[in-house]
Amino acid sequence: MSVIAPGRNIVIIGLMAAGKSTVGRLLAQRLGRPFVDTDKVVVDEAGASVAEIFAAQGERAFRALEAAAVRQVAALRGQVISVGGGAVLDPGNVTHLRATGDIVLLDADPAEIAARVRNPAKRPLLAESADVVATLTELRDARAAAYRSAATHIVDTKGMDSAAVAAVLEQWAHRTPGLLSKDEL
Ligand code: S3P
Repeated sequence: MSVIAPGRNIVIIGLMAAGKSTVGRLLAQRLGRPFVDTDKVVVDEAGASVAEIFAAQGERAFRALEAAAVRQVAALRGQVISVGGGAVLDPGNVTHLRATGDIVLLDADPAEIAARVRNPAKRPLLAESADVVATLTELRDARAAAYRSAATHIVDTKGMDSAAVAAVLEQWAHRTPGLLSKDEL
């Protein structure tokens, strides 16, 4: 990464378990960039898991911590950032992320996502669900407009593994003016 002119951030959004963190980590490795995950920032600062924060303080409190984490990571440059699945439902978060980054949506198939969710109890919005595929489909439909208007680029990940998605994103990053630094190109 160039010290003088780091590239813009690459921000990965999408439903929970869509592969944001795994893809983000792989993409960061490929580009030689740092990787940061807003859920992890929240968990580290709160000293409690996402599920514990939801249970003890409620979703509103979690969203306030998440908004603070978004502002913190959006102040950086040259990062690969993954944000929690609900972060871009708050337009203020989108404004901050857009100011310093390009936002890419990993659009994923609810059935494929559900197959990756081994422990729904760790995911508060799925914990009470009797039918994880149905709940994920509802969330995807309810969030489609917000996700699509926040995103500057969309990748349909159906049938792709994380390495393939990271490779597609790397190619996109190379094609996108101003996203990568001179050193990265
Ligand atoms: C949420 C997604 C989770 C986490 C929280 C709420 C959501 O993050 O922020 O459970 O509203 O979709 P991941 O998308 O990283 O699982």
